[in-house]
Amino acid sequence: MGLEIIVKDLVKVYRIETVEVQALRGLSMEVKEGEIVSIIGPSGSGKTTLLNIVGGLSSATAGSAKVGAIEVTALKPYSDLNSHREHRVANDGHEGSQRREKPAGQEPP
Ligand SMILES: Nc1ncnc2c1ncn2[C@@H]1O[C@H](COP(=O)(O)OP(=O)(O)OP(=O)(O)O)[C@@H](O)[C@H]1O
Ligand SMILES: [Mg+2]
Repeated sequence: MGLEIIVKDLVKVYRIETVEVQALRGLSMEVKEGEIVSIIGPSGSGKTTLLNIVGGLSSATAGSAKVGAIEVTALKPYSDLNSHREHRVANDGHEGSQRREKPAGQEPP
């Protein structure tokens, strides 16, 4: 099982003071429900940037990323994105099911 992922024209620009880095320049891809894919490419090609946006850890500059029925790029920080991470990313992909283990690093010291 799992959720379909549809990424369309995804752009991510990192800005550090006056320097801009275009990490994603209009990326489109689809992963069908239940499909297992590998994302390969040279260092710096944007693999982690893509996964961070799809997983709700980072925002996109432009474009869309849909996970199941949810448009991730339209989610609001904190409440919506936390819910996306808790219920769609950090489990087996069944929307609405409970996470079975706590992810590492989430416990207070
Ligand atoms: N937080 C950040 N601030 C500024 N630039 C960043 C940031 N994260 C990534 N970048 C830049 O964005 C581009 C894509 O980086 P990314 O980490 O997504 O690549 P990658 O394909 O995961 O590389 P690797 O194979 O080394 O893990 C690179 O030019 C990188 O330097
Ligand atoms: Mg990486």
